Amino acid sequence: MAQQRKPIIAPSILAADYARLGEEIAAVPDADWIHVDIMDGHFVPNLSFGYDVTRAVHRVTDKPLDVHLMIENPEKWVDHYIDAGAACVIFHVEATDKHVELAQHIRSKGVRAGFSLRPGTPIEDYLDDLEHFDEVIVMSVEPGFGGQSFMPDQLDKVRTLRRVIDERGLDIIIEIDGGISATTIEQAAEAGVDAYVAGSAVFGADEPNAAVQELRALASK
Ligand code: DX5
Ligand code: ZN
Repeated sequence: MAQQRKPIIAPSILAADYARLGEEIAAVPDADWIHVDIMDGHFVPNLSFGYDVTRAVHRVTDKPLDVHLMIENPEKWVDHYIDAGAACVIFHVEATDKHVELAQHIRSKGVRAGFSLRPGTPIEDYLDDLEHFDEVIVMSVEPGFGGQSFMPDQLDKVRTLRRVIDERGLDIIIEIDGGISATTIEQAAEAGVDAYVAGSAVFGADEPNAAVQELRALASK
């Protein structure tokens, strides 16, 4: 399917050196967004950081913060991330039974709203509600940890979303998250992805900004 936009590359600071976060972010000037992974040790087994770190990141960069909440009770916490400077707040549909209301709330604060799905969650149940969202994150690993292997079967979800979004003329970004690297990004691009999260492939590289450029070039092919 045809791409809708120039590929968006969103390095995930989950894979950065937390003692040097400002320098790590400054080392990827060609990134489009910064992806901020919030893990609470409950929705996923791992713990990362919270809204104070998100706010600190916002202070050191002008890039839009793509805040991926892998947490229980997102209703209780979204305002903290909005206040911290998120450009888009993405919560998991498995963590709430009020996904439309929550998206409306986020948008009412002038912030973009997104939802994400675990690999085992079908997209079909959410297609009727797409108009309430600005972004969908398709997880191509089980959420919780960086550095896992890409799950190509998740691209079926991307293809479904691409078709429905294009048919309805919706303005929604399809983002893929997990295991994106120079060897996997082209298949994601072919399936119709607009935005690519990359943690270890960027911050694990010797030259993080060169890795961003390479990923964008491959996704643009
Ligand atoms: C995983 C996170 C990802 C993670 C990706 O639960 O949502 O954003 O940082 O890391 P890589 O790119 O290393 O798979
Ligand atoms: Zn993420």
